Amino acid sequence: MRLLVTGAAGFIGSNFVHQTVRERPEVQVTVLDALTYAGSEASLAPSRAAITFVEGDVTDAELVDRLVADADVVVHFAAESHNDNSLSNPWPFVQTNIVGTFTLLEAVRRHGTRYHHISTDEVYGDLELDDPRKFTPETPYNPSSPYSATKASSDLLVRAWVRSFGVQATISNCSNNYGPYQHVEKFIPRQITNLIDGIRPKLYGQGLNVRDWIHVEDHNSAVWTIIDKGRIGETYLIGADGEKNNREVVELILELSGLDSDAFDLVSDRPGHDMRYAIDSSKLRTELGWAPRYSNFEDGLAATIDWYRANEAWWRPQKDATEAKYAQIGR
Ligand code: NAD
Ligand code: DAU
Repeated sequence: MRLLVTGAAGFIGSNFVHQTVRERPEVQVTVLDALTYAGSEASLAPSRAAITFVEGDVTDAELVDRLVADADVVVHFAAESHNDNSLSNPWPFVQTNIVGTFTLLEAVRRHGTRYHHISTDEVYGDLELDDPRKFTPETPYNPSSPYSATKASSDLLVRAWVRSFGVQATISNCSNNYGPYQHVEKFIPRQITNLIDGIRPKLYGQGLNVRDWIHVEDHNSAVWTIIDKGRIGETYLIGADGEKNNREVVELILELSGLDSDAFDLVSDRPGHDMRYAIDSSKLRTELGWAPRYSNFEDGLAATIDWYRANEAWWRPQKDATEAKYAQIGR
């Protein structure tokens, strides 16, 4: 299989490539990534010798067409991915997430290539803390932020290209990932690296917002399950029943770091901050037989803390610029 992976110099895509190189050495992997502030070739280092890396933009129609022509399967991770950035400057989100997806869809349409679209549970909006429901593939789209609105737009393009043009596509919507190679702008790595720098963790609002955490390796094993067995045109929700509020996560990071569990600060809230995400992944589990392997969040978090401690050279170059951006918005 010749596999084109977009956005694989980022967090989830780089882990996907490492897992693929490790577990499926027969797959020929080509990566297309623009190396934005969020992408780093260093994230691909362990697999670099086994893959082809192309630096380029998913909105570059000529380049995308050439790469898709040489692929059997495309997995599209590339995106602007951070909600806070989308509130400060939404345009790159429209360009990459919507126009980039359009560009790939047109190429896979021309070449009849199998396409898997990586998306997020945020397309469904949010749930109240006491709502007994979880998101299902039937939940209506109701995105809150510019980021999630552009992801929702991209999902709808995929659905239209399946129905109108017969494109061979599947979509997955996953909950919050954690693990190695995640940019220090994101919640968990920000707090871990702040603590390494002697800075107290920062919780938005009251810290009561709930996210449904899944280890990145479980997300990626689910993506492979969908590529192998998913039904064309279907949407699969990926989640591992990992609901926790942000305060609980910070308390755990503090405890695992040997510090008092109340040694954090509350900072101003994110505008439009989604309250809670929760995934019902039963379709993926019953129809395709997928199950997560990282069932213990505390163990996964401890391993992630160890990874950031051992890989300061990887994250240190991003840290000052990231905290300068947060300082500008008072968080
Ligand atoms: P990330 O920000 O860590 O990585 C994004 C990558 O895409 C970077 O390497 C960046 O250089 C690249 N990129 C950005 N714009 C590009 C462009 N125009 N052309 C080519 N490459 C470009 O993101 P992530 O957290 O790894 O997320 C990957 C995908 O998974 C995204 O589609 C995101 O919406 C989705 N997702 C993320 C999560 C999560 O918890 N992080 C959960 C569910 C879904
Ligand atoms: O649900 C999937 C989504 O998860 C993905 O689609 C996004 O790409 C990914 O970034 C993530 O979005 P969130 O906005 O949930 O993730 P973030 O890491 O930015 O924040 C997680 C929670 O922590 C959220 O409630 C905001 C809060 N937060 C975040 C930061 C950076 C804090 O309390 N303090 C912080 O310093």
